[in-house]
Amino acid sequence: MRKIVAKEVLAPGIKKFVIEHPQIARKRQPGQFVIVRVHPEGERFPLTIADADPERGTITLVVQEIGHSTLELGRKEPGDFLMDVVGPLGRPTPIRHYGRVVCMGGGVGVAEIYPVARALKEAGNEVVGIIGARTRELVIMEAEMRSATHQLIVCTDDGSYGVHGLVTRPLQEMIDRAERIDHVFCIGPVPMMKAVAEVTRRPGIPTSVSLNPIMVDGTGMCGACRVTVGGVTRFACVDGPDFDAHEVDFDELMKRLAQYRVEEQMSLEMLRRRIEEAGLARAAS
Ligand SMILES: Cc1cc2nc3c(=O)[nH]c(=O)nc-3n(C[C@H](O)[C@H](O)[C@H](O)COP(=O)(O)OP(=O)(O)OC[C@H]3O[C@@H](n4cnc5c(N)ncnc54)[C@H](O)[C@@H]3O)c2cc1C
Ligand code: FES
Repeated sequence: MRKIVAKEVLAPGIKKFVIEHPQIARKRQPGQFVIVRVHPEGERFPLTIADADPERGTITLVVQEIGHSTLELGRKEPGDFLMDVVGPLGRPTPIRHYGRVVCMGGGVGVAEIYPVARALKEAGNEVVGIIGARTRELVIMEAEMRSATHQLIVCTDDGSYGVHGLVTRPLQEMIDRAERIDHVFCIGPVPMMKAVAEVTRRPGIPTSVSLNPIMVDGTGMCGACRVTVGGVTRFACVDGPDFDAHEVDFDELMKRLAQYRVEEQMSLEMLRRRIEEAGLARAAS
């Protein structure tokens, strides 16, 4: 059992949790994740370690409520316990001196690119950050990303804040201006990572993406997180989650993410109904 010590709402449907876990806080490296189970009957699902404080013995997770399990986690409060938090899992992102790097985060992916950007800056790279969200109120961790980068560009799809358009726009403009870019790191929704891979493919800029397939055990045993990279089957939980963006079969990844959509929707509806009924019962008593 792991205690939640703090919670903050970063944006509608996006919540930050600080959780007691001294061992993971001591060991984790940028790019690694944990597998969480909220209660004994809950499913196991992966979340990136957004931050850690080895002295306090805590880790920070940022979660977007998109389905049953993430909604259940989102309802937890400080003082509540999570059934288990396993990790750190996955290979750390290779942090070294590349030169001038671009770190891109989309939606909740901003929380996941943040530790990578910070570590790359600490390793002496010049770090340009590009973060994006659909609209202004969904932009998260802007201040943290400013401190983790030398330059930060914020984009919104609807133009309500920062650059109007997708994160690929300023990236393309940098390439058109022939700016030096030694490596691109990108975390976000699969269509975003696919689009970034297309932008950097022609100029041949090395690009890493952090893949987010469905995971179950997180230890390479179940095969749920299978992805095709360079024509070879890899397991994102033990071989990744970082892979060469130009080698990933993104279309297959999207198909695999959609394979339980009907069951996920049913499960979410049942949970929503239970939450509603509990609310009504409380109001009536
Ligand atoms: C290594 C790794 C790190 C991750 N880190 C984070 C994180 O830091 N914060 C965070 O909010 N999420 C993160 N995710 C995604 C998170 O695990 C999923 O959102 C979660 O499992 C969904 O569970 P659910 O039961 O709430 O929704 P489900 O009912 O399982 O899914 C609801 C909907 O979301 C889609 N979906 C399911 N899984 C994913 C996924 N992995 N990516 C995109 N769409 C998905 C489904 O197709 C479905 O349409 C990470 C995933 C991986 C593999
Ligand atoms: S999650 Fe089971 S093999 Fe990767």
